[in-house]
Amino acid sequence: MRLTHLHWGLALSSTVPVSCWIPSRSSNYGSSGFRYFNESLYRSRRLYGSNSNESAGADSEILESLAKRLSNQKFQNVVVLMGAGASVSAGIPDFRSPGTGLYDRLQHYQLPYPEAIFDLDYYRDQPKPFVELCQEIWPGKEGGPRPTLAHAFCKVLEDQGMLRRIYTQNIDGLESLAGIDTDKLVECHGHFRTSSCIKCRSTMSIDDCRREMVEKMEVPICKQCGSYVKPDIVFFGEELPARFQELVSSDTDSADLLLVMGTSLMVMPVAAIPSWVSHDCPRLLLNRERVGHFLRIQSRDVFFEGDCDDGVREICKLAGWESLLGDQFQDCR
Ligand code: OAD
Repeated sequence: MRLTHLHWGLALSSTVPVSCWIPSRSSNYGSSGFRYFNESLYRSRRLYGSNSNESAGADSEILESLAKRLSNQKFQNVVVLMGAGASVSAGIPDFRSPGTGLYDRLQHYQLPYPEAIFDLDYYRDQPKPFVELCQEIWPGKEGGPRPTLAHAFCKVLEDQGMLRRIYTQNIDGLESLAGIDTDKLVECHGHFRTSSCIKCRSTMSIDDCRREMVEKMEVPICKQCGSYVKPDIVFFGEELPARFQELVSSDTDSADLLLVMGTSLMVMPVAAIPSWVSHDCPRLLLNRERVGHFLRIQSRDVFFEGDCDDGVREICKLAGWESLLGDQFQDCR
């Protein structure tokens, strides 16, 4: 895939700004290699998918065949796309599940819309809500969340030599806690290990940033320019890390299995990854509901409807990997 990246900013799929160009496979969308992402196009795609009569449940035969191919080491370049649902069983709420998702619990901040709490323009103007939220979401607390079966499964894939890369949208750090090699990981929406100024990009030590935000509940101020500092998680309106741009093209070109777990596929550009793998690459969705490109299931797609942990348990049962998964899960607890 030939990608000349004009713009890799984080954006909601239904509110993609006019300036946002979404790279795509040239074979799908014309010779330029780009397609202009347009709200109405996406909406009609969703409608088309939800009207489809194609199967919504897990196709057990295809799942069994994928599991066999895993156990026979037939895959060499499994690409995993992970979202908040993969961490729900660790006690971390996802974002958009009605009732339980984070965005349903932010009313007291009186935000103009829930995602504003992760929006750069909003933070520049009103940093306090995010600072307060950091008390809750800053990872690494003693006795805090531990990796789930879904994370353990990724580690099994890595140990079996089949994992090409994990593209995670999560900022909880559970992939690393599961022992996934940093080389295998792309933290698409950043992390809490470093922090920097939102204006001049000067760095601040993450310990200082944490002290301000979590211990004092203050907004950290840049010593260079006086603007606000925040941890290097990617806010709406910010570019994704360079690592994403460097790797996503070759990884999606090489993928021989795409495993999508626990994501609503609502946030671009990560939500477009399923459309970038080759047309003969099987795509497996483990999720509580059909989402994004899986609204219209294609013949190479498998949808396991349910929790990620149940999905990976089922795959491992079919692959004869139950003890591998169990041992790995114990190791990362
Ligand atoms: P969402 O909350 O948007 O979607 C989570 C998806 O996982 C939904 O489809 C749920 O139905 C499903 N789900 C929940 N629990 C599950 C479970 N145990 N097993 C399987 N599926 C489950 O979360 P993301 O798609 O990850 O960005 O959100 C993407 C981005 O939007 C986040 O990274 C965050 C947010 O704004 C930033 O903060 C920058």
